[in-house]
Amino acid sequence: MTYRVIQWTTGVVAREAIAGIIGHPDLELVGAWVHSPDKDGRDVGELCGREPLGVTATRDAAALLALPADCVCHMPGRDWVEDPSRTLAGLLEILRAGKNVVNLWWPTLVYPRAESEEVYRRLQEACLEGGSSFCTVGMDPGYGTAGLALSALALSREVETVRMSQFMNNAHWEGPGITKFFGFGRPEVADTPMLQPGVTAGYHATTLHLLADALDVKIDEIVEDHRVIYADEAFDIASGHIPAGTISGVHYEVKAVAGGRDRIIVEHIERLREQDFAELEFKGDGYRAEVVGEPCVRLEMTLSSKPDFVGDGIAVASAMSVVNAIPRVCEAPPGVLSLFDLAPFPSRNSMIRRSGS
Ligand SMILES: NC(=O)c1ccc[n+]([C@@H]2O[C@H](COP(=O)([O-])OP(=O)(O)OC[C@H]3O[C@@H](n4cnc5c(N)ncnc54)[C@H](OP(=O)(O)O)[C@@H]3O)[C@@H](O)[C@H]2O)c1
Repeated sequence: MTYRVIQWTTGVVAREAIAGIIGHPDLELVGAWVHSPDKDGRDVGELCGREPLGVTATRDAAALLALPADCVCHMPGRDWVEDPSRTLAGLLEILRAGKNVVNLWWPTLVYPRAESEEVYRRLQEACLEGGSSFCTVGMDPGYGTAGLALSALALSREVETVRMSQFMNNAHWEGPGITKFFGFGRPEVADTPMLQPGVTAGYHATTLHLLADALDVKIDEIVEDHRVIYADEAFDIASGHIPAGTISGVHYEVKAVAGGRDRIIVEHIERLREQDFAELEFKGDGYRAEVVGEPCVRLEMTLSSKPDFVGDGIAVASAMSVVNAIPRVCEAPPGVLSLFDLAPFPSRNSMIRRSGS
């Protein structure tokens, strides 16, 4: 069966999704929506630095939704940080039009019923009206944390705790974004937007609820905690200079407390040098899920790219976690889904890269 896919945006991760869609034997790219006026009317392949694909990007959402497509691969940018309402309204239109949606936008929608009753209800109503299904994947929130933990839990009983960890070396990111976000190179935690009260808890709460529902645990409270490390000497990273004595690493935890105990934990280790946080015993970039139960289970997943690949392997993984889910989401009955509902969705992309990749 071939699923006809409309790609929604052609941003950083979306370009990797487009490469994934055109290389997938069960998927056909039939349209693409763009936000940027200067991309309107251009060939999607050219927009992604590839050979022309014969698919023209458009800002005309209504025209795209009139196409006989099975699925929308929904990847708008980070407007959800300030105000998700406009893009959410567009998403509801897509679902009402009868198009299934695999989603990366607004990552906490990995488990919409925990995001808010209102958002969940609106998504569910739109799905039922259109006969469509909706699922958000990604890496974190997403497959790297919740997906890995759900796999680990398949093997255990008497489960006491589940810990999901992301390890990321941020030294190669260009541009000021990541530096600002984690306060790298700044003297004070007060300069770190991610560590302001409630921010990490807000970002990871839906992941904790997904796991709590999987375990049938009732969360009493969600608490957050963090520590930072300071550079013992000055060094440079792609996004700038890290003076000695300034923030050079962040370790934060968000914990779901039940019955007086930390039962489910998400933690991030964001570093700039491989040797930092060595006591956590994780080399490279990736994820770890650790279940304390009988037996105790530890799953580790590291992500790296082949030497000839130009790009960011984490962006590819984020994109492919969404693209590879398309057949499952199209096959599912109408409604809001999560990773908890989907059978495994292994890649069917062949190892042969298409021209221009
Ligand atoms: N869960 C995860 O692990 C994970 C990982 C990475 C990203 N994400 C999420 O995935 C999404 C895409 O990330 P990205 O890094 O690829 O984003 P991006 O490159 O910054 O932006 C994606 C595209 O969104 C479009 N866009 C820009 N402003 C918009 C607006 N106001 N309304 C609607 N569309 C707009 C643009 O499309 P055109 O250029 O086509 O016009 C832009 O290229 C984000 O929501 C991000 O939070 C999740």
